[in-house]
Amino acid sequence: MTRVLSGIQPTGEIHLGNYIGAIRHWADEQHEHDSFIFIADLHALTMDIDPSVLRAKTLEVASLLLAAGLDPNVCTLFVQSQVPQHPQLGWLLECVAAFGELRRMTQFKDKTAKGGEGAARVGLFTYPVLQAADILLYDTDRVPVGSDQRQHLELCRDIAIRFNTRYGSTFVVPQAAIAKVGAKIMDLQDPVAKMSKSRSSPQGKVLVLEPPEVMAKKIKRAITDAETEVRYDAKAKPGVSNLLELLAVSTGRSPEDLAGDYTQYGPLKADAAAAVVEFLRPVHERFRELQSDQGYVVDVLAKGADKAAALAEQTLRRAKQAVGLLPSRP
Ligand code: TYM
Repeated sequence: MTRVLSGIQPTGEIHLGNYIGAIRHWADEQHEHDSFIFIADLHALTMDIDPSVLRAKTLEVASLLLAAGLDPNVCTLFVQSQVPQHPQLGWLLECVAAFGELRRMTQFKDKTAKGGEGAARVGLFTYPVLQAADILLYDTDRVPVGSDQRQHLELCRDIAIRFNTRYGSTFVVPQAAIAKVGAKIMDLQDPVAKMSKSRSSPQGKVLVLEPPEVMAKKIKRAITDAETEVRYDAKAKPGVSNLLELLAVSTGRSPEDLAGDYTQYGPLKADAAAAVVEFLRPVHERFRELQSDQGYVVDVLAKGADKAAALAEQTLRRAKQAVGLLPSRP
């Protein structure tokens, strides 16, 4: 059976881009594939985050993933730091990855553009290697992500292939699974930039958990362009195309097909807003129910970590042995 793995950082507020680009695919794919989904709390430490916020956000994101339809009886849901094999394999892979290839990571360049590289945490620099460990520990075949993760996935593949070539076949080489529609939801106020937890303004991003009327208002006020023609063309008409993608994902139709239904921007915005609100309604309802049962969420995560660790340990042992480390005591 195909093994699927993906993760999300518990930083900031989860937005529509995260939901459409990643989370909804995880919920869909769990029934077809053996799925491991985790909350990347170790990655969250690469930027400044208050400890109490990190704790609260980790549980909130876990509840949100359950509300989005991840079923702990079907997939494995866990928190990265509760599976110590992640940073252990991360170290082995840091000794295979090259400084130059990490230097090319655009996310590192973006995140240090303001404060400068000198002040950046070393963890922010080596983060993509920990991400490679996250993936390789589970013999992962498919990694469903948004398109902003493409470069990290390429690096993971390069590291796996290099390790296998140097030390003998140890890791499965994974494939990124990036959808044709919705892999890069754009900022509503700046449609040439992706919707981002850290960089989008409050008006530019729709939060998955915010009240429906707030969501609808933001979508109705989305920036479009000075023309009036409704056409799906992400380069020439990024704002309109983004609205068509939101509507397409929420209704299950194609953006090209939907474009033919509209001659004006106003009705397109109103329909996109209504469709997104409907799309997220069941998530809101389930999230509210889970809020009163945090013990259940903690329990799901503990069981998930046990299951993940059992599998991760096998791969870690294989990798340790391959590089020449003495076996640990049984
Ligand atoms: P993170 O937390 O930034 O984002 C979680 C997922 O949401 C996708 N995404 C988007 N998709 C469409 N449009 C957008 N505007 C948008 N913004 C974000 C991301 O592509 C991602 O799939 N490094 C990862 C977490 C991670 C991970 C892993 C993922 C750690 N280890 C191993 C896969 C496998 C991250 O920071 O995602």
